[in-house]
Amino acid sequence: MIKNETNALYTANPARYENMPYQRCGNSGVQLPKISLGLWQNFGSYDSFENARELIHTAFDNGMTHFDLANNYGPIYGAAEITFGRILKQDLLPYRDELFISSKAGYDMWPGPYGDGGSRKYLVASCDQSLKRTGLDYFDVFYHHRMDAETPLEETMQALDYIVRSGRALYVGISNYPPEETKQGVKILKELGTPLLIHQPRYNMFDRWIEDGLTEILQNEGVGSIIFSPLAQGLLTNKYLHGIPKDSRAAKSEIIHLNKDHITSEKLARVKKLNDLAEKRGQSLAQMAIAWTLHNKAVTSCLIGASRKEQIVDSLQALENLFFAHTEISLINEILTD
Ligand SMILES: NC(=O)c1ccc[n+]([C@@H]2O[C@H](COP(=O)([O-])OP(=O)(O)OC[C@H]3O[C@@H](n4cnc5c(N)ncnc54)[C@H](OP(=O)(O)O)[C@@H]3O)[C@@H](O)[C@H]2O)c1
Repeated sequence: MIKNETNALYTANPARYENMPYQRCGNSGVQLPKISLGLWQNFGSYDSFENARELIHTAFDNGMTHFDLANNYGPIYGAAEITFGRILKQDLLPYRDELFISSKAGYDMWPGPYGDGGSRKYLVASCDQSLKRTGLDYFDVFYHHRMDAETPLEETMQALDYIVRSGRALYVGISNYPPEETKQGVKILKELGTPLLIHQPRYNMFDRWIEDGLTEILQNEGVGSIIFSPLAQGLLTNKYLHGIPKDSRAAKSEIIHLNKDHITSEKLARVKKLNDLAEKRGQSLAQMAIAWTLHNKAVTSCLIGASRKEQIVDSLQALENLFFAHTEISLINEILTD
């Protein structure tokens, strides 16, 4: 048993690897859990540290070995990395080699011309800052967070290659890149000798853009994918069917990414029909929404968020039924497009 900073004891669940399936990420040697945890929300400066700690423990105790960060996760920017670093130091350092930890740079992070975009200057400096905030010696994967049309793709890919060669990360990833630029990035990285491990795009029943070319490229090139916001930030659950709960993401005014305007009556009508189908399958809508993303063969892992540990436990039960009959897939398509 490990005595930590607060004198509390954390010992990981010895049965943590019994129920989680792991899938090879593209053609690489690395396997990822089918469900991974992201720290975009609920790990910031204004969030409860004890709750954050419970979320991480619940995830790891259930075989979720992969945790996803970015330089700007908070609020405030950097806060999620600091929170994760504290939890790592207190509880998880003895398990470092069982963990697969990612961070990213790409969006605006600090003032001036070097704190945003895709330049080598920004990516390397930001990676160093992220390592410092988390206390890690290296990231398992470091991503460019979004394509930057102002920077030559070669420069960004060279920066990712350098980050690996200099020991700051083991693998590289890209996020939110459109199909064509993904293809070019794969080629450049292959030539540099640091193959692209993974792509991180948004994918859920309301946002299926990856089906339009990207997944085909990833499969052809042997690149894995970890999709984010499988629950459309909570919309693809039963939580908004009877109004907006006070403690929900949509009710938190500082969060601009999901607000009351996104929860339209048209969307809710579809959510209601999807919820009925999920009930018939014996699942919660959250579970069905997660299972649906994993039904796509190009998807290596589904990256969820959670504000309470009970949500992680609920979402993990998606793994109990990943099968969809043709009739169910057709019905989902009908509900989403009628
Ligand atoms: N690369 C990128 O550009 C990018 C962008 C966005 C996200 N991401 C990554 O993807 C991760 C996940 O994104 P996300 O948080 O938007 O994912 P999500 O899984 O679609 O949404 C998570 C939210 O859904 C609700 N929820 C979760 N489980 C639930 C359950 N079982 N039942 C009912 N409600 C449930 C919670 O909302 P409440 O808070 O309302 O309880 C939770 O905060 C992020 O943490 C980040 O790592 C990456």
